[in-house]
Amino acid sequence: MAEKYKIITFGCQMNENDSEKISGMLAEMGYLESEDTDQCDVIVINTCSVRGNADDKFFGALGQLKQLKQTKPEAVICVCGCMMQQEVFRREIKEKYRFVDIIFGTHNITEFPELLNRYKASRKKLESVLEDTPDIPENVPVKRAFKHKAYVSIAFGCDNFCSYCIVPYTRGREKSRRPEDILKEVRCLAEDGCKEIMLLGQNVNSYDKGLDDKISFAELLGKVSDIAGIERVRFMTSHPKDLSDELIDVIAERDNICNSIHLPVQSGSDRILRLMNRHYTREHYISLVNKIRDRIPGVAISTDIIVGFPTETDEDFADTLDLVRKCAYDSAFTFIFSPRTGTKAALMEELPDEVIKPRFQALVDTLQEIIVSKSQIYADTIQEVIADGRSRSNDMMMSGRTKSNKLVNFSGDCSIGDTVNVRITEAKPYYLLGEMLHD
Ligand code: SAH
Ligand code: SF4
Ligand code: F3S
Repeated sequence: MAEKYKIITFGCQMNENDSEKISGMLAEMGYLESEDTDQCDVIVINTCSVRGNADDKFFGALGQLKQLKQTKPEAVICVCGCMMQQEVFRREIKEKYRFVDIIFGTHNITEFPELLNRYKASRKKLESVLEDTPDIPENVPVKRAFKHKAYVSIAFGCDNFCSYCIVPYTRGREKSRRPEDILKEVRCLAEDGCKEIMLLGQNVNSYDKGLDDKISFAELLGKVSDIAGIERVRFMTSHPKDLSDELIDVIAERDNICNSIHLPVQSGSDRILRLMNRHYTREHYISLVNKIRDRIPGVAISTDIIVGFPTETDEDFADTLDLVRKCAYDSAFTFIFSPRTGTKAALMEELPDEVIKPRFQALVDTLQEIIVSKSQIYADTIQEVIADGRSRSNDMMMSGRTKSNKLVNFSGDCSIGDTVNVRITEAKPYYLLGEMLHD
């Protein structure tokens, strides 16, 4: 009987894409994927280190595997991902979670099959983590969650060193994947029936770092959108300092490049933006948002905001609220500042909870008001939706996304991956309700 595996993934789309590759390699080795942890012979936890609560969730999940290892000592417990790039967490695992068998990092996931075979032959614990690497492995098998949509990584690492952020330390220096390799992967996906591509990078706008033949992200996006069968191209994340007019033009011109842009602002205060090392001002950001809205009809703009960065004053926070109103976001992720060991901001004095909590609530309330009102523009419209599956809240309904990435729950008979027209009957703040049109 084939051995079984399960991968538990924390963190961003980069990590999800890495897990799809680890899954692909395990499937190629003959393992079968299983949801049932107790049945598994190999368990991999792919970790994230971006905020403190990500660390806590990981240790919670890891603790639960202790029992499994006691009842089934031959099960192989593996931990990888961003936390494993940090010595402090590797040490913690080796000291307190001695049942972990294999540790590997973000730069050597393709080494995993060899590590697993070596471990099974010797039953000796293994640790293999690289500081960084200039290499980008190609032709890695990928077991994707969906047939109709896929992540395609275009750049790895980050050189921006925002003062709060751990990612440059866990993912290394920025490097771009060769355009021909990206286009080849997208062509293969399209031939296999994939219609939606999400291009991934920590900062897609600075794509071309390390390439011999320079090509801008906008050019690459155009080439991806030219591939027959690709109905939608999405991308993330865009750094506001690098978003070019050329990029805005290509999104505006091409029907199959989605009119949704994730543009993390982090703060609306120039003083805080400087301390964060973001390299733009609030004025630059607001005019960029206005330019995007002018040039791309119906564009949806989303953002990330950090509340309570060290030294943030009431005035700084008022600037954030003001910017949020001016930018009229379609959606937003809000975070409380979390000190990450090794970053510059972790050396600064943290603000007390009683200062941060009310600010966070005020930001959430302000965003809620804006998002509710923006959502209303969808009421009574007809939207093109690609069905992703059954609705999580009501399994009599299907669920999918508009081009602008708005979640739609709708009635009607269709299959996963179908592109359908949906009449929106009600606009709720965080999703739309509708009925599928049969023509
Ligand atoms: N590369 C992307 C985002 C990476 S992390 C970008 O540059 O926008 C995703 C989000 O997590 C960030 O945009 C930021 O808002 C948040 N984040 C990162 N580090 C954080 C920290 N130390 N505390 C709180 N939020 C953080
Ligand atoms: Fe982190 Fe900044 Fe890089 Fe984004 S751009 S990954 S926030 S350092
Ligand atoms: Fe987390 Fe690493 Fe992504 S720290 S957010 S999984 S790049």
